[in-house]
Amino acid sequence: SILILDFGSQYTQLIARRVRENKVYSTIVSHKITAEEIKKQAPKGLIFSGGPASVYDEKSPKCDKGIFKLGIPILGICYGQQLIAQYFGGKVRRTREREFGRQELFIDDHADFFSGLPGNITCWMSHGDYVSSLPKGFVSIAHTLSTPNAAFASRDRKVFGVQFHPEVVHTARGSEIISNFLYRICRCRPSWEMGAFIKDTVSHIRQLVGKDSVVCGLSGGVDSSVAAVLIHRAIGRQLRCIFVDNGLVRNREPEEIKTIFRANLHMNLDFVNAQNRFLKRLKGVTDPEVKRKTIGDEFIKVFEEEAKKIRRVKYLAQGTLYPDVIESVSATGSPSAKIKTHHNVGGLPEKMNLKLIEPLRELFKDEVRELAKQLGLPQEIIHRQPFPGPGLAIRIVGEVTPERLQVLRDADDIFVGEIRKAGLYNEVWQSFCVLLCIKSVGVMGDERTYENVIALRCVSSSDGMTADWVKLEPALLGKVSSRIINEVKGVNRVVYDISSKPPSTIEWE
Ligand code: XMP
Repeated sequence: SILILDFGSQYTQLIARRVRENKVYSTIVSHKITAEEIKKQAPKGLIFSGGPASVYDEKSPKCDKGIFKLGIPILGICYGQQLIAQYFGGKVRRTREREFGRQELFIDDHADFFSGLPGNITCWMSHGDYVSSLPKGFVSIAHTLSTPNAAFASRDRKVFGVQFHPEVVHTARGSEIISNFLYRICRCRPSWEMGAFIKDTVSHIRQLVGKDSVVCGLSGGVDSSVAAVLIHRAIGRQLRCIFVDNGLVRNREPEEIKTIFRANLHMNLDFVNAQNRFLKRLKGVTDPEVKRKTIGDEFIKVFEEEAKKIRRVKYLAQGTLYPDVIESVSATGSPSAKIKTHHNVGGLPEKMNLKLIEPLRELFKDEVRELAKQLGLPQEIIHRQPFPGPGLAIRIVGEVTPERLQVLRDADDIFVGEIRKAGLYNEVWQSFCVLLCIKSVGVMGDERTYENVIALRCVSSSDGMTADWVKLEPALLGKVSSRIINEVKGVNRVVYDISSKPPSTIEWE
């Protein structure tokens, strides 16, 4: 396996991911790990991550010097490279200007680390310091116009360093560079698969939980479903799932969840019908943030009441993914600006004195989908488009009432149905309807109508952070429009949302 020492880079998880892609097991550990501890774990290689500090800063994170004497191959990335240079007696200097973004990398030595790569590639740089003179016994193996030692090597010691970031997608063929390090330098073998992840996680959870119970809020989304199924594998009926029906879900959704988890997967699922409670609290509420907070707050109340009924519950399981972890903290470690109060079960563990289990914390969305496949989850779950915690309430501009919810559900059903028929459901990030708070004049037969407007939203995205509106075929849009106006009572106009994120957001509230 490979140990990744974390020096505070925002890309540390990406390094782990690139290693996993190459079918080698990796774990991330603190930079404070001792040489003794590493020796015990006997990894085949070490990767030092980047980090925001400068090596000559006294307070900057350092590693146990004994690590350099273990004889285990090391790859240092950015700050990691500078740390290696400093330890072996090279010089690190501040660049005149911070270098950030794409650079041309000229490869000067293709022997092992860059084997199979062309003479130059695009690489991604993000640094304020650089290795200005090489330590004794090191050679430069690649350069850019401004960085002479963009990659260096000490082959006797099996120590390599790069100033650029091979782990990010902007470094063309970065994965191959990492693969060269793993196979050619560390002599790893490609043996790690998602199956091994399942096995390890299941045995870890089993050991951790013992005879206690775990409670898990199930939403039907892929993340919470995969977390629940994984934990169910480990502890069976000691896992209690709770589905809170807040009345803000789409047509047929509660029944589908019941069928999948209770009937097909034989899981312990408590189904709570809390529709009235939520609707009552939402009465008269029109402000988006108040809506979100009200729903989040009520969810915690209902969930807490239900969880209290379970004996020996000690853990709360959540389907938190890696991007959820980084999104809440910016690169510098300070909280990023709040755009919307996202609903999750945050606040629950402290309130209920529960410990968190987050088995997907290190994974990315596409890895979770792969996991879902391997765990045998049905297609409807694996490819389900994201759906916000506050549900349809934030897709109804203005007050949420049972009547308005039904209008939206029926319109949404038609739109999503047509998107599926056109084979686009798995292609796009999300497709849904929004019910607006204005009415418009229309004519049906010889009658004047004064009714609701539905907006269609369909976006492409890879992570929900940025998104583009999808250029749907006019024929498809026309069909959806005429079906909604004809089939959904109370709607006489349909519009298509052609805004991207940023500056708009995906949801309307
Ligand atoms: P926005 O509207 O912020 O949405 O561009 C980005 C993505 O997040 C989803 N979303 C949520 N997901 N709880 C969630 O779990 C929420 O409160 C929430 N609000 C928005 C949204 O559907 C999109 O995929």
